[in-house]
Amino acid sequence: MDKHKIKEAARILSFAHFPIALTGAGISEESGIPAFRGEGGLWAKYNPAEYAHINAFLENPKKVWQMLKELDGILRAAKPNPAHKVLALMEAEGLLKGIVTQNVDNLHQAAGSKRVVEFHGNAFCLRCLSCGRAYKKEDMSSEQPLIDLIQDVPRCHCGGLLKPDVVFFGENIPTRALLEAQVLTAACDVMLIIGTSGEVAPANYLPYDAKQHGAKIIEINLEATILTEAVTDIFLQGKASKVLIALEEEIRGMRGKKS
Ligand code: OAD
Repeated sequence: MDKHKIKEAARILSFAHFPIALTGAGISEESGIPAFRGEGGLWAKYNPAEYAHINAFLENPKKVWQMLKELDGILRAAKPNPAHKVLALMEAEGLLKGIVTQNVDNLHQAAGSKRVVEFHGNAFCLRCLSCGRAYKKEDMSSEQPLIDLIQDVPRCHCGGLLKPDVVFFGENIPTRALLEAQVLTAACDVMLIIGTSGEVAPANYLPYDAKQHGAKIIEINLEATILTEAVTDIFLQGKASKVLIALEEEIRGMRGKKS
């Protein structure tokens, strides 16, 4: 880890008025959730055209639900890791104003982060494709969805097909999340980008929007991404938890010196 870059990033963050974070699958990798791209990624095992496109789901919900059930087990077992916790701590200390996450794993909220925009939805919620009714997995004890025994897929009480409330390819970003993300991006003077390949639109427009109005971009990733060359001011290479812990300690040290 480059100590000079950590110091510079800490200095920028501690003087920022409205720093935000944009996170991707890499931040949850240390919680045991595989990322999407690259070796060992989810899309190496499951072709997204067959498993993650809304048309694939509508054509063969049983097949897609088999993958979703496997994922559900992984998500339920996952706990926030130090990277999630440092971001929550930074927010509590006024060093971060909000997080836009592409993750659907609820781990930022579980770590204590308050202002979290779920750009791609939340896997712990199901929604009926016919009547729009939402089922939260934690309160399903009161009213369980019906299980279609022939198809082995969950169904709403209206008979409609239930789908996790996450954005599949071919679907729009939920309007509220899109607007909130745009508002945070427009307001930010620093964007901390953590653990995303920057391959998926429209989430990957946000760093360009931030950069365009003069925000500083600090990127944390194991390796350079397509964003690094294009928009990043400071690239901090390494595991999200290690880098964020170092960054937070450096900011704490600077604050100590100031007071
Ligand atoms: P990707 O799998 O595309 O990228 C994960 C990034 O995290 C890569 O750049 C890795 O180098 C980096 N990474 C992995 N482990 C890390 C660690 N411990 N610390 C730091 N960095 C690490 O995941 P996303 O960019 O989040 O969309 O993917 C974006 C979207 O593509 C997802 O939200 C999902 C997917 O299709 C939908 O489901 C709609």
